[in-house]
Amino acid sequence: MSVQETQPPAMSGLRIGDTAPDFEARSTTGPVKLSAFRKRWLILFSHPADFTPVCTTEFVELSRRADDFAARDCALMALSVDSLFSHFAWLRLIRDRFDVEVRFPIVEDPTLVIGRAFGMVAAGDYDSATVRTTYFIDPKGVIRAMTCYPANVGRSIPEMLRTLDALQRVDAEGALAPANWTPGDALLRAPSHDLDDVYAAENGADWFYRDVPAKAPR
Ligand code: BEZ
Repeated sequence: MSVQETQPPAMSGLRIGDTAPDFEARSTTGPVKLSAFRKRWLILFSHPADFTPVCTTEFVELSRRADDFAARDCALMALSVDSLFSHFAWLRLIRDRFDVEVRFPIVEDPTLVIGRAFGMVAAGDYDSATVRTTYFIDPKGVIRAMTCYPANVGRSIPEMLRTLDALQRVDAEGALAPANWTPGDALLRAPSHDLDDVYAAENGADWFYRDVPAKAPR
């Protein structure tokens, strides 16, 4: 397993706008290389441990919604410190108990080298029990959004899809997604940077707050 850091100092954690550090590792679907996922969106997410209840619900729900991520040209990739064989055993139990096959790759990171490069765990941490981190990585390999949840609260899969929809739509429209935006809602125009627009606006707020007409939902 190896990590090529592109943006020091990776140990302190990555930020929105950083290029995701490339890595190669073993996974449940064979060897993976992060940069091989470019040209598509990728959601890379860590989970605290295999064989834990909240993580199990996340994997079941993500697998049930796998087609929805694929429809958005977005791959999923999970990561934890557990070994490849632990991942296999857990996936087999998930299939037997929930009748769901997890088909996206789950990476093993037993030395935390990837988790540290991404800032999922702090430099001095010796276990990963605190991390439930999610990175939304765009087709150029740039981190566009990230979330961090505690071990005892599971992520919302609808919110992951909504965030992905919002990122893809603001890119396509050169616009902004307001609070609570969901597909079908209006986006907002980026505010003008030109004082003439400020004075020319018919309504006092128009220069910084205006809808882009909504498009039909997908
Ligand atoms: C869970 O996924 O249920 C879990 C993981 C780590 C600590 C506690 C709970």
